[in-house]
Amino acid sequence: MRQTLIVANWKMYKTLSEAEEFVERFPGEIAGISGIETVICASFTSLARLSVLTEKTTILLGAQNMHWQKEGAFTGEISPLMLRDLCVKYVIIGHSERRQYFGETDEIINKKVSAALKNHLIPILCVGETWDERKQGRTFLVLNQQILFGLQSIDNEKLSSIVVAYEPVWAIGTGKSANKEQVQEVHAYLRDVIKEFTSSNEMAFNIRILYGGSMSPKNAQEILSLKDVDGGLIGGASLKIDSFSSLVQIAESVQKVKEQ
Ligand code: PGA
Repeated sequence: MRQTLIVANWKMYKTLSEAEEFVERFPGEIAGISGIETVICASFTSLARLSVLTEKTTILLGAQNMHWQKEGAFTGEISPLMLRDLCVKYVIIGHSERRQYFGETDEIINKKVSAALKNHLIPILCVGETWDERKQGRTFLVLNQQILFGLQSIDNEKLSSIVVAYEPVWAIGTGKSANKEQVQEVHAYLRDVIKEFTSSNEMAFNIRILYGGSMSPKNAQEILSLKDVDGGLIGGASLKIDSFSSLVQIAESVQKVKEQ
């Protein structure tokens, strides 16, 4: 059984004091919830402090990006070692905003996925088509390329820990998520591609595939209940304690039904 993973992607929101306030209150709101892995991907400026504040809680920390080198003359970049040092466990790689605004290519993303795994960080590899690509019937082609390039040359043993996030670009921050048929269709497809890539049914079955794109307490039950959906990568709805804790609660109740 795959453990449900609920990940907050705070993007470029929250100053240090806002992040501290959230993390001081949030564990109390989800106390008693079990079986759900809850991760907060905060900005780099908050991670050091949050690693202290989350130490005795069930909250895990994630970063939103990183460089692929351990160290070096790369002004302004953050290395996997620096993240490990702060007890960061997850790192989002290849988010569509990084692809779109910062020129990240599949090649760069592949280097980052590989570096994350080498440094014992769990990459959350994001893939997703734009609205134009969907309209042109190219959704599966685009996803196929993103996933195969993203995972290129990485051996099966390392791959077993990765997380994939399907985030249709047109659903991110729009308030309009993909519908349940679209989500299940893509997730099943991605699992098939992984099966072919790894030649392992077991690995494809065990890899967690998250959905991201306007997930909120309103649509979470429906999306998380889908067979191939193992959690969510949540932007807007993760910024408020109320909505993020409702999402974790919904995830717990869905997981219980799935376990039956
Ligand atoms: P959203 O963002 O939930 O605000 O749509 C999701 C994401 O970009 O990861």
